[in-house]
Amino acid sequence: MIDFPADLLSLLKKTSRAAVLTGAGVSQESGLRTFRDSQPATALRQAQDGNSAQAGLWSQYKPEDLATPEAFARDPKLVWDWYSFRREAVKAVRPNAGHYALAEMEKRIPNFTLITQNVDGLHRMAGSLNVLELHGNITRVRCSKCGMLAEIWGDDLESVPRCEKCNGYLRPDVVWFGESLPPVELQKAVNATRECQVFFSIGTSGVVQPAASLAHAARSNGAVLIEINADPTPLTAHVDFAIQGKSGEILPDLVKAVWE
Ligand code: OAD
Repeated sequence: MIDFPADLLSLLKKTSRAAVLTGAGVSQESGLRTFRDSQPATALRQAQDGNSAQAGLWSQYKPEDLATPEAFARDPKLVWDWYSFRREAVKAVRPNAGHYALAEMEKRIPNFTLITQNVDGLHRMAGSLNVLELHGNITRVRCSKCGMLAEIWGDDLESVPRCEKCNGYLRPDVVWFGESLPPVELQKAVNATRECQVFFSIGTSGVVQPAASLAHAARSNGAVLIEINADPTPLTAHVDFAIQGKSGEILPDLVKAVWE
């Protein structure tokens, strides 16, 4: 059991409004790769996806070179195939103890907003309810032209599937580099950040805007900042409590220490 500072535990006991920002680090213990780790840039551990030939193929690409509207315009099939591969990887994994601990925390704190940059849907799968997916969700697909969400599509391997309504190419319902964040989710995230007493930044390198600036906005509004990360980040020097380690180990211990 981790020894948390007593003032952190008493603060959390009386907190009624919390906002949490998560990044790829919270899914790392489920087996999904983070974006900025030192390994080749595949979406998951090769050992885990059971298809290492595919993983090897994709490891030559950087996410920043495929997750853009320009890449899709240039080679829609390449981008579609990369996302099909990543979607399969996401389907193969399950939430970890950190995801479940955050769902538990939501039951204990009356106003609790979970803001995530992750597109894997694992927070909802773990039971979190008030989740704002700032970068979309990889399991959803929409038309790149008319925006209609597609429920089913054929992966015929020959070409990118098209929209039933307008014949535009289908694309994953995620935010690509250079695209705007979904305005409703972003506004709700900003509101939760403004109103919270405690703001957690968990498993995110905090370098991608505007999500990264939420922590600073929370701080300017008087919130206590808590960071949980395997390594120091640019935010670490500015937080009130920095807890270094794996979120899948720290979060369940924290929930136990505060509420059990
Ligand atoms: P990053 O890959 O930038 O950062 C992952 C963070 O998680 C790092 O700070 C790691 O130290 C930390 N970490 C790794 N394993 C951990 C663990 N088990 N427990 C706790 N922390 C751990 O991922 P994000 O910050 O999520 O955007 O990246 C933000 C955005 O940049 C992504 O959503 C994506 C990316 O480019 C888009 O695709 C638009």
